[in-house]
Amino acid sequence: MDEKLIQERIRQGRAFISGFGDDTGLENYQSDQDLKKPQPPLTKAPMTDQALELPNDFEKLSIDGDFLHIINTRRSRRSYTEAPMSLLQLSYLLWCSQGVKSVRGRAYATLRTVPSGGARHPFETYLAIQNVTGLQDGLYHYLPMKHRLEFLGCPDDLRGIISRSLCEQDWAVKANVVFFYSCVFYRGEWRYGIWAHGPMLMDSGHVTENLYLAATSIGLGGCAIAAVDPEAANPAFSLDGKEECIFYAMPVGTVPEDPQGEEETFYAFVREQNL
Ligand SMILES: Cc1cc2nc3c(=O)[nH]c(=O)nc-3n(C[C@H](O)[C@H](O)[C@H](O)COP(=O)(O)O)c2cc1C
Repeated sequence: MDEKLIQERIRQGRAFISGFGDDTGLENYQSDQDLKKPQPPLTKAPMTDQALELPNDFEKLSIDGDFLHIINTRRSRRSYTEAPMSLLQLSYLLWCSQGVKSVRGRAYATLRTVPSGGARHPFETYLAIQNVTGLQDGLYHYLPMKHRLEFLGCPDDLRGIISRSLCEQDWAVKANVVFFYSCVFYRGEWRYGIWAHGPMLMDSGHVTENLYLAATSIGLGGCAIAAVDPEAANPAFSLDGKEECIFYAMPVGTVPEDPQGEEETFYAFVREQNL
């Protein structure tokens, strides 16, 4: 291994977190917003000409109203029962993680159920769905402005695509829904330019935390996944990986009531290695 190369990667990573890089020579830098260039769209245009209106009568769900209980019981769940998820449950998860509550100005910013630096909301939500009542299995794209879902098709090898996209974490293929998050880079860069990337990464944590809490509040479970392979995930959703790239995911599914067994299996190595 080239130790110098490794140290350089570590240095770049630390610089990214501690100050988003060295700005020497860029003191007079202006972002495209500073330069009065046109703003990119707040959300991606529909990819098809048909979309399903999602139900929003969330009062019909059995939602845990005890916030502290939700906080205390949230955990990463990697074992799924393969019982069906309802369309209303899926709709609630989408609403809680990316729903648009209002639009600021004519089309300046969306205000959503999660915060975002500068209200840029640079993400798109794609879904790999299996076993959601009333929906055909397959790949979908969420349209947050209208709270709708568009069907992108069902490849023969849906489970294989999920597995390869999540670096062969095969426990995830049993989830009813895998949420795949892409970043539309220019949405943040238009405003923050060379400083956009740190805040966009910070934003993604809010999205999955809301998804964790929403799932917990209706008795479902999921697990955030950073080990995503964009080369497998991007083509599944027709993304180029340059302007828009999948970088984060979260399977969510119906889960056994008692998580103890699955915790034991997952952390067996901790015991084995006496960590
Ligand atoms: C950014 C992020 C990336 C993660 N990536 C993975 C992953 O690729 N595979 C996995 O099994 N768990 C992943 N997890 C779940 C963590 O392992 C989990 O949150 C951690 O062990 C703590 O457990 P808890 O969520 O139950 O509190 C990830 C969590 C986060 C927040």
